[in-house]
Amino acid sequence: MSFDRSIKIAPSILAADFANFGAEIRAVEAEGADWIHVDVMDNHFVPNLTFGPAMCAAIRPHIKTVMDVHLMISPVDASLEAYAKAGADVITAHAEAGPHLHRTLQAIRALGCKAGVALNPATPLSAIAHVMDLVDLVCIMTVNPGFGGQGFIHSQVDKVRDLRAMIAGRDVHIEIDGGVDAKTAPLVAAAGADVLVAGSAVFRGGSVAEPAAYGDNIRAIRGAAEGATGQMA
Ligand code: DX5
Ligand code: ZN
Repeated sequence: MSFDRSIKIAPSILAADFANFGAEIRAVEAEGADWIHVDVMDNHFVPNLTFGPAMCAAIRPHIKTVMDVHLMISPVDASLEAYAKAGADVITAHAEAGPHLHRTLQAIRALGCKAGVALNPATPLSAIAHVMDLVDLVCIMTVNPGFGGQGFIHSQVDKVRDLRAMIAGRDVHIEIDGGVDAKTAPLVAAAGADVLVAGSAVFRGGSVAEPAAYGDNIRAIRGAAEGATGQMA
């Protein structure tokens, strides 16, 4: 995985057909997805339950791009190896998920994965000030995690701008997760984000049988974001 700051659209399979993940992943990748975002929820750290490492391993062969695993679980450390073995390229843990974030990030890198840290809307950037040299990605949650289809929390845009300054020259991705669509994407792209997770805004109106809508949705989000950063749409 080489680093660049171009806009990357990461469809969240939380909004896909749970009975057909393989075909859904192949369809969104064929329609232009850059990464595949995989939401793991434990019904403890967040009030919803999705799937675990066995499902991640099962979908891995269908992903040709980047497998971006978002762990909304606590505790997290004991599970990291299972997600690395399942084939994750990026593993993101929440800063709020435990007291030993530094150890968690070290462990993710030691397993050969890119290390991400996610911050809930109420968590300040100061929570990661002293681990910046251990992160490859910071995920700013623009909803409270647990469910797709929620409204974008606008107060987080300033946080993204502050994070871009805090990252300075480091090769660290800024990922946005929650309520991203063609209206909100330009706000966070202009503030410095490069990875845009989108569930409902990518999968709405389409299906494996009718995947063209996925492509239209991805192009709309990408075009709006690139327009805000001055990149070619
Ligand atoms: C929320 C998840 C998100 C979610 C985004 O807890 O982490 O990845 O799927 O869904 P939308 O794009 O519908 O807000
Ligand atoms: Zn997510």
